[in-house]
Amino acid sequence: MRQEELTIERLAKSGDGVGHAGGRTVFVEGALPGERVRVNVAEVGRVLRGEVVHFLEQSADRRVPACPLAGRCGGCDWQHVSEAVQRSQKVEIVLSALEHLGGFDRTALQLLPTVHGEKALGYRRRAVLHPVGRRFGFFGRGSHDKIEVDRCPALTEPLQALPGTLADALGTAIKDVEQAHLIEAGGKVAISLHLKGPVKPKTRQKAEELTRGGLGVVLVPSAGHSESFGKVELLDGEVRLRPEAFAQANAEVNAALVTGAVEALGLDGTQGVLELYAGNGNFTFAIARRAAQVLAVEASAISLQLAQKAAAGVKNVRFVQGDALKILDGLAKEGQRFDAVLVDPPRTGAPGLGKLAARLSPKRLVYVACDPAALARDAEGLFSQGFRPVSLQLFDLFPQTRHVEAVLAMER
Ligand SMILES: C[S@@+](CC[C@H](N)C(=O)[O-])C[C@H]1O[C@@H](n2cnc3c(N)ncnc32)[C@H](O)[C@@H]1O
Repeated sequence: MRQEELTIERLAKSGDGVGHAGGRTVFVEGALPGERVRVNVAEVGRVLRGEVVHFLEQSADRRVPACPLAGRCGGCDWQHVSEAVQRSQKVEIVLSALEHLGGFDRTALQLLPTVHGEKALGYRRRAVLHPVGRRFGFFGRGSHDKIEVDRCPALTEPLQALPGTLADALGTAIKDVEQAHLIEAGGKVAISLHLKGPVKPKTRQKAEELTRGGLGVVLVPSAGHSESFGKVELLDGEVRLRPEAFAQANAEVNAALVTGAVEALGLDGTQGVLELYAGNGNFTFAIARRAAQVLAVEASAISLQLAQKAAAGVKNVRFVQGDALKILDGLAKEGQRFDAVLVDPPRTGAPGLGKLAARLSPKRLVYVACDPAALARDAEGLFSQGFRPVSLQLFDLFPQTRHVEAVLAMER
């Protein structure tokens, strides 16, 4: 192991500080841009990692994390730096992924100001908990080791103490639980307990007890049908949420994300729009108000059920269940055309999207991304099919973390 002195230049997508030694990039956990650090350097896989031995110069943006679990919990890895720096680093992460993986010219598009919410903590309306012995916890930093958490300040107020109180309420029944999913909307809370095996009478009894405290509870056995207790479907405006279905984690910034992404589609009420990875219809109904027709595709049966219920009475929306890219291929083979396309894939992105989307001849394509690298790879495929970047806007749904949502609007 050798020691080096480095200056940290920026933060990487992984959240680590980035410096250089001997012409090679070194990733340094916990170090901030502008800091001078002495590090022990080790080769880990194909990259160099530096462990800070001494801070020679610290950044004025460094601060004491608000949560006592910072540094151990995998949830909020950027608490040690101000929100303003977090946001500027997120812009750099997305632009540099687009440049390095997407062959993209940052001067060729309009960069809109990053949107953020009022709350730097207390914003997360959804979480997944993992049992740690008789308690619940989150994955630890950079690992799948679990860190016990009784209270989490990143969660919305009605959820903050739930990891602890839920573990207390379940008692020994927690040993049958693989995961617990929490969701909150309008102060109401629902949870799903994903079980290691079938629903046992004891777990059913616990679920009934929990509903008396006002919780909605879904028991999801490892095979077979779920059982619901109390109110498990919550309302976020016209959109319906359930604990076991995907929902954007930050309600306040999500509202701005929906407005921004739909705005970027450039609709005037006459267009036919294809929406891929539609989930519970988070974007669908806002698109439908500005389009002639929307065809929305989603793979998850539970999300689709929520979307279809919410769509009762909405005449210009049709939901289809299936794999987004297979359905896109089918539509192209049928010779269908759409004026605009919105895609919001999971972290893996939508490999092959460019060639397939081009066959539908859309004038606009808006890509909503939670992973900058997947966005950049898919954007490269879209650029090679004649799509041109028009605007990029970031929505900071996840303060205190390296995560961000990016909306890239393209034209063809
Ligand atoms: C990032 S979420 C976005 C959902 C929704 N647009 C929203 O804002 O809440 C991605 C969605 O893609 C769905 N999904 C994942 N793989 C898919 C596939 N191959 N085809 C269609 N949908 C898929 C997931 O179930 C999830 O609802």
